[in-house]
Amino acid sequence: MGRTAATIVRITGVLLLVMGLFVWMGGGPMLVPVHMVVGVAFVIAMWVVGFRAISARVASPLAVLLIAWGAIVVALGMTQAQILQGPNHAAIQGLHVLVGLIGMGLSEMVAKRLRVAHEGGALDARPA
Ligand code: HEM
Repeated sequence: MGRTAATIVRITGVLLLVMGLFVWMGGGPMLVPVHMVVGVAFVIAMWVVGFRAISARVASPLAVLLIAWGAIVVALGMTQAQILQGPNHAAIQGLHVLVGLIGMGLSEMVAKRLRVAHEGGALDARPA
């Protein structure tokens, strides 16, 4: 389950980047709602990874951060089109992509620790 969710984060993350790039290039405003739905799937998968880690008592602080980060991704994604409209909108767009990329990285970190824990071994004693 944790592994499947981590894979979903990876796949939807890449899809979001590709779709976002199209949107950014002006390629398809109609892609935005699809991007948003995939974005919600991305965040739900992030949360599953986080909750799996917490229930397995793996990397708990990082898992809590992952769950909180998911909330930030949704909150910014849902509101960003309205924030800082005008010439400075690029700053919000850059922030949006950065927040998404950090979410992908956090998910990778937590999923890796979950994987190591499931394979056995004292994971906190190992380098990340
Ligand atoms: C719930 C999650 C998400 C929602 C609701 C969402 C929503 C949006 C919206 C409304 C836009 C167009 C807005 C504008 O032009 O200002 C956009 C653009 C974009 N999104 Fe997302 N997004 C989400 C997650 C992500 C994630 C996780 C990534 C990358 C890993 C991503 C990458 C992009 C990119 C590259 C663009 C085009 C440049 C930009 O506007 O920032 N999005 N997103």
